Amino acid sequence: MNRRKFIIGAAGVGLATAFILKPGDGGASYSPYFRDLNDELMKSGPYRPSMLVDLDKLDQNIKALLQGLNQDINYRIVAKSLPSPGLLDYIMKEARTNKLMVFHQPFVNNIAENFPKADVLLGKPMSVRSAEIFYKTFSNQSGFDPSRQLQWLIDSEKRLIQYQDLAKKLNVKMRISIEIDVGLHRGGLQSPADLPLLLDRIPEDSDHLEFAGFMGYDPHVVKLPKIMKSADTAYEESQTAYRAFLDLVRNEYPRIDMERLCLNGAGSPTVAYHKSGTVINDMSAGSCLVKPVDFDIPSLQEFVPSSYIATPVLKKADYMAIPAIERFKEFFSWWDPNTRQSFFIYGGKWMAQYESPKGLQNSGLYGTSTNQQMVTGSGKIDLDVDDHVFLRPDQSEFVFLQFGDLLAVRNGKITDQWPILKQ
Ligand SMILES: Cc1ncc(COP(=O)(O)O)c(C=O)c1O
Repeated sequence: MNRRKFIIGAAGVGLATAFILKPGDGGASYSPYFRDLNDELMKSGPYRPSMLVDLDKLDQNIKALLQGLNQDINYRIVAKSLPSPGLLDYIMKEARTNKLMVFHQPFVNNIAENFPKADVLLGKPMSVRSAEIFYKTFSNQSGFDPSRQLQWLIDSEKRLIQYQDLAKKLNVKMRISIEIDVGLHRGGLQSPADLPLLLDRIPEDSDHLEFAGFMGYDPHVVKLPKIMKSADTAYEESQTAYRAFLDLVRNEYPRIDMERLCLNGAGSPTVAYHKSGTVINDMSAGSCLVKPVDFDIPSLQEFVPSSYIATPVLKKADYMAIPAIERFKEFFSWWDPNTRQSFFIYGGKWMAQYESPKGLQNSGLYGTSTNQQMVTGSGKIDLDVDDHVFLRPDQSEFVFLQFGDLLAVRNGKITDQWPILKQ
């Protein structure tokens, strides 16, 4: 091959590759659902980034969660994943439950004050200092009685002794739930053989301690690569592990009334498994009710996304507005049609994915901003200043806390503003 032929051939291959790699136009206008939401926000919205919760979709998810759930199993709402008293109150009424799982000391205080009838189980073992702060800042005016309505989570003999000392010092009685490892390996008692260290101590000091039950969280069941273990096998193994703790209590501690124990387990990823036979009698879940992106998993197929970030467009340009490369803007918009328009939105850099209009993306060249994020999109995107961009949060527990009041939406209209839990 002579030099000329080689150069022409190489250029041809280069061009063909470029055309294969050239991005397609991913832009589209709002779907009717988001067009209506945008109209509503333009009429009655706060014109700042907000978190919307669609109550019609939330209702659908509550139904999906409770459908087919054995009558003997209580539903416990994971408060960290739905962190707003208004939202929790709504779900408690709709799902007819007073049970909450809480993971943050200020939230425990807040819930004890706002929900005097709640039954609270801690979702993680807290430093005894956190427990002390709870009691010191708790005002018992609401009627919430921690000695009956609050279960502290304990994962070791050492922590149990610390809590016992605190209970003696404050002259209170504490209900104790024991965290057990059913395969996740995020802590908790590894083996039933470790149980007597705790179960022997509790009845010896019944003025200050009471055994309330177990907590065994099992999201690993659906998260393990299939090649390592199927979800069905992992579920069976986690149930066997849980059952071993129960068998030890049944056989070695006949005085403990098993019927009265709170046997907590599950979490959004595994609720479907617990519906078809389980050793637990207390099932916790939260995220599935709002279904952020991280919960797009096969076991939650029946659930629909019900929460969106909405934020106004502040500025717009009909080219990719990047400093210093103005000369190349025609090239960029030819190369990637999804850079033909630039929008600057109010806020940004959330843990979230662009949802509507379709085809919006962060500019890799402009960088990210929490103040005015630059977003690009194709010419097909019909979006103006003062319209809203909608994003789906990746998760709810942290993202929900970043926007002030949640906006509750029913039938496409904003019907309520719900403050978030105070930090
Ligand atoms: C102990 C425990 N239970 C249940 C859950 C489930 O919460 P969600 O349903 O929001 O995933 C979690 C989540 O972190 C957890 O740590």
